[in-house]
Amino acid sequence: MTAPIPISLDVNGERVDAQVLPRLNLADFLREQLQLTGTHLGCEHGVCGACTVRVDGEIVRSCLMLAVQAHGASVQTIEGLSDSGEVADLQAAFRDRNALQCGYCTPGMLMAAQDWLKRQVEPDRERIRQHLSGNYCRCTGYQAIIDAVEMTALARMSRKP
Ligand code: FES
Ligand code: FES
Repeated sequence: MTAPIPISLDVNGERVDAQVLPRLNLADFLREQLQLTGTHLGCEHGVCGACTVRVDGEIVRSCLMLAVQAHGASVQTIEGLSDSGEVADLQAAFRDRNALQCGYCTPGMLMAAQDWLKRQVEPDRERIRQHLSGNYCRCTGYQAIIDAVEMTALARMSRKP
């Protein structure tokens, strides 16, 4: 039997020390050991984007990354982004534009949308669509999601000095 491996990482600004089996993926680690269940699992093979988290500033699919690979890393989940207020305006836009229905895809969508919003200065629907094309939604038809991200981009632009 394989022995657990000790790992240390930063999760949403707090240091975490844990013992994990080498085969445990990051999504299961976050959900089952840290109870951060905002990270959802859909396909579990890198297609749907429901499990998107940020690792050292880059969005990744946590179902494709092993927990041991996150040793020494800084991980941010939707709970971290939400609690810090970083995506408060984006969340409000999702509500206002009816960009979520069942909500299953929403944490991953918000992570991916915020990644785009941090990198872009100009709202561009086609580029928003491309950036979110790796995140599947079975409910909304995507238009409302694009609307919400565009609306947030415009609002952030107008607040820039
Ligand atoms: S659960 Fe990770 S990409 Fe679908
Ligand atoms: S809101 Fe249901 S999957 Fe997107």
